[in-house]
Amino acid sequence: MTKKNYTMTGGPEGPPIFGMIAAAKNDPLGFSMENALRYGDIIPFQMIGRKLIQVNHPELVRYVLMENHKNYNKSKAYIRFESAIGKGLFTSNGEKWRQDRQKIQPMFKREQIEGYYFTVINEVSEKFKQRWLTLTEKGRTELDITFEMSMMTVEIVLKIIFGKDNLDEKTVASLHYSYSVLIEYLKITRMLPKVDLGKVFCTPRYLQFKKELANVDAIIGKLRAEYQEGELQDKYNMLALLTEAQKQDPQHFSDQDIRDHAATMVFAGFETTSILMQWMWYILDTRPDVEDKLRSEIITHAPCAATQDSSALTYDAINKMDYLLAATKETMRLYPPIWISSREAIEEDNFGDFKVDPGTIIVLPQIALHRHPKWWDAPNAFIPERFLPENEAKIDTGIYFPFSHGSRKCSGYKLAEMEAKIIFTKLLPLFKVKALNSIANSPDPGVTLKLKKSLLAEITRI
Ligand code: HEM
Repeated sequence: MTKKNYTMTGGPEGPPIFGMIAAAKNDPLGFSMENALRYGDIIPFQMIGRKLIQVNHPELVRYVLMENHKNYNKSKAYIRFESAIGKGLFTSNGEKWRQDRQKIQPMFKREQIEGYYFTVINEVSEKFKQRWLTLTEKGRTELDITFEMSMMTVEIVLKIIFGKDNLDEKTVASLHYSYSVLIEYLKITRMLPKVDLGKVFCTPRYLQFKKELANVDAIIGKLRAEYQEGELQDKYNMLALLTEAQKQDPQHFSDQDIRDHAATMVFAGFETTSILMQWMWYILDTRPDVEDKLRSEIITHAPCAATQDSSALTYDAINKMDYLLAATKETMRLYPPIWISSREAIEEDNFGDFKVDPGTIIVLPQIALHRHPKWWDAPNAFIPERFLPENEAKIDTGIYFPFSHGSRKCSGYKLAEMEAKIIFTKLLPLFKVKALNSIANSPDPGVTLKLKKSLLAEITRI
């Protein structure tokens, strides 16, 4: 039980039975942000007979995600994801999740991040940089930044998971396409987690989803078999580590578990990181002052970044770039790639005087707390300085949680931060990225907070 007496000034009310389903479906972002501004700390409402509470106070965010997390499972909204990624860390609960997390978290330990994962990101981003250099050799060029960031992050995450020398370009492109189809399908069906109407009516979209899922499974299956038979030597990618974990504990880690964990990592790590970078380019387009500061910090710590070949970049140099890290954090404050999370109460609980019934869905909208004027000065302004080391400690963890908090905090957050820093280090000192369609753009809230339209830009050498 939390101690405080929270404010509760009612919540939105819709038609009987349906409740707020239409409002939340038609304008999900507006719905949660307006609730946060209009009502108190606890915002109850209902949807198709289900009780929900949107929490609107940092203490309650911390309570649900950290202090009393054992009473809050991932909600049913995550079940729909199982059709694509099975029971990996993202979707499972209870003892299975606890045991799996214990086995998988060491795959994100420092040596892995600074070693194999750094090497993969450095190599892939250098390849993209060389391509941009060639494209701009004769002057300006137009690029679809959304596609560029998406292709780069998918190649990175696939090589981290399946091995840097085990995937040809065709397989990367094929998995990129398959995952894009899976994510789009989940976006459409996630509001009704119990009934997949696409499946019931065997719609063309569902059939396409099944086809792409089969493609993902076939590729993972082939690589896994090659590891099991000892044909692949690379020891540090995640599939190799998962296969090793299976050898140590075959009873606990089945072939299906390995497939689900590998599929989950691609799903959790690809679009999220790509979106972070797309939003950062979008913001920097109107902030040449921030761009200048970033370029100067990057070149101070990594002089090679100003040259044609920056493959000699080191982890230590990246680690010193506080302003760059702060800019990525501030981007995720304004545009959290995962903009909403939810949990389900297992047993009865209390938020202060407010009773929480078992089965109640607790809605934790990152976007609403990240921009709430009660907790932030100039909430809609882009001010990276908020996240410089001397200021960051003053920020309440309950108003900023792009990677969530507590025992279910994103497994890959350090990896994602490093990836964004390396990519900007490679590209920012050499290129000016001038957006061509920023004004027409806006957030598109689905599973993740995408840009409504692909970000097109004119690229020139600096
Ligand atoms: C900017 C990039 C990323 C963002 C914003 C992000 C955000 C998040 C959030 C908010 C959660 C918690 C969801 C919830 O509990 O409701 C989560 C979980 C998770 N993320 Fe990330 N993520 C990012 C990148 C990555 C990467 C690169 C990986 C791995 C390759 C990854 C792997 C995971 C996994 C496995 C979980 C489930 C953890 C668990 O429940 O034990 N994420 N992420």
